[in-house]
Amino acid sequence: MSFSDSLLPSVIETIGDTPLVELSRLTAGLDGRILAKLEFLNPGYSKKDRIARQIIEDAEAEGKLRPGQTVVELTSGNTGTGLAIVCGVKGYPFVAVMSRGNSMERARMMSALGAEVVLVDQLPGSTSGHVSGGDLALVDQAAQRIVAERGAFRADQFHLAGNFRAHYLHTGPEFLRQSGGKIDAFCDFAGTGGSFAGCAAAFKEFNPAIRCYLIEPEGAAALAGEAVTNPNHRIQGGGYSMADLPLLRPEHIDGYLKVGDDEAVQVTRRLALEEGIFAGFSSGANAAAALRLLRTELRGKTIAVMMCDSGLKYLSTDLWE
Ligand SMILES: Cc1ncc(COP(=O)(O)O)c(C=O)c1O
Repeated sequence: MSFSDSLLPSVIETIGDTPLVELSRLTAGLDGRILAKLEFLNPGYSKKDRIARQIIEDAEAEGKLRPGQTVVELTSGNTGTGLAIVCGVKGYPFVAVMSRGNSMERARMMSALGAEVVLVDQLPGSTSGHVSGGDLALVDQAAQRIVAERGAFRADQFHLAGNFRAHYLHTGPEFLRQSGGKIDAFCDFAGTGGSFAGCAAAFKEFNPAIRCYLIEPEGAAALAGEAVTNPNHRIQGGGYSMADLPLLRPEHIDGYLKVGDDEAVQVTRRLALEEGIFAGFSSGANAAAALRLLRTELRGKTIAVMMCDSGLKYLSTDLWE
């Protein structure tokens, strides 16, 4: 019997190092491979646990977060869940500010993890399950007010380098290590753009020929410079119709792709049925875009994607029927 050296001091140390799986059932009959990183196996069931840890630990290292100081951030639920875990373990009170348009499983999970959840009404005319950039602007105003009222630290995922660094230092290098460096392309559905920016930077540093594609919802391709005709799409976690995301580096974007709601839903369901991968809308969007690339300009290539969060977060939506 050998004694284990794998005892961890807290759940925070279980964040990251997620498995990479080849989606060979989804790509049957196609020439090429899709490699999917199972980010829903993080303790908060999404990739955003990574940035929660990085942002808080960067702030601690830089002296920007005092012991016991309140942390506030706006969230579609996933960053908030990650922050609820990290702040809970480290002893910082955490306030999650979220639109009522996001699925309620997320609010309940954050509360269970000790977060104070502030729900913000959507714009008149917005519908539940469809969170637009306008809805998010209201959430941002509420977050700013709470930060000022409580003298809190804003774990600002749209601006803080920790969001980029989590993926540049960890997710990207993990992809490279687990694939033996055999990645030709990466495509990613953007919310803050932190995952895309960090992974793309790591990939380009390793091999500038790795092509990196940014994915947006059909009808909300603001980053690609198109007119926004459908801000109320169904792909939760991103596609906020913002023409500028501070963390993105334009020189790392080789192309823009669009995925429609129905296509994202269809591929999310195929992931569950064919691969046993129970993930959310944006994971389906990532795999859908990769499938299209394999059928067109990247035939025969290997494409890396993230399975961003768990399908359990959408049980109250019409994703699963
Ligand atoms: C489910 C889901 N998919 C995709 C994204 C977008 O990731 P990023 O903010 O790194 O662009 C998020 C961000 O919150 C998310 O929660």
